[in-house]
Amino acid sequence: MALERVSLENKTILVTGAAGFIGAALTERLLTLGVPLRVVGLDSLNDYYDVRLKEYRLQRIETLAASACPDDQPVRPATVSWLSPAAARTRSIM
Ligand SMILES: NC(=O)c1ccc[n+]([C@@H]2O[C@H](COP(=O)([O-])OP(=O)(O)OC[C@H]3O[C@@H](n4cnc5c(N)ncnc54)[C@H](O)[C@@H]3O)[C@@H](O)[C@H]2O)c1
Repeated sequence: MALERVSLENKTILVTGAAGFIGAALTERLLTLGVPLRVVGLDSLNDYYDVRLKEYRLQRIETLAASACPDDQPVRPATVSWLSPAAARTRSIM
């Protein structure tokens, strides 16, 4: 189903595996839809493959989210926060 056909305005969307190949791409897509929404990303950052790739994806997402919602804007169009079972990896950029 095309994301454009679903109204995601003001919705909170949980993306599991958000640092993975598909989850990171989905998160980036959601953050660039141009509607106010909140993405909650969950990822254990397992080491099935090189974790540095996942770290890179998280960095990309955070940069994207920061540019999508500059502090001086009255309405923050899109935000992302992280839930991670690895406590040290828990981060929030809301
Ligand atoms: N990549 C493809 O082409 C493709 C095609 C069809 C189906 N799939 C399926 O889609 C899913 C995602 O694929 P992918 O390529 O993004 O894999 P991926 O390994 O890149 O991403 C999965 C992410 O889930 C995280 N994860 C694993 N167990 C977790 C847990 N218990 N709690 C939190 N996070 C956890 C991992 O750390 C990883 O970052 C998989 O189930 C895969 O089998 C992928």
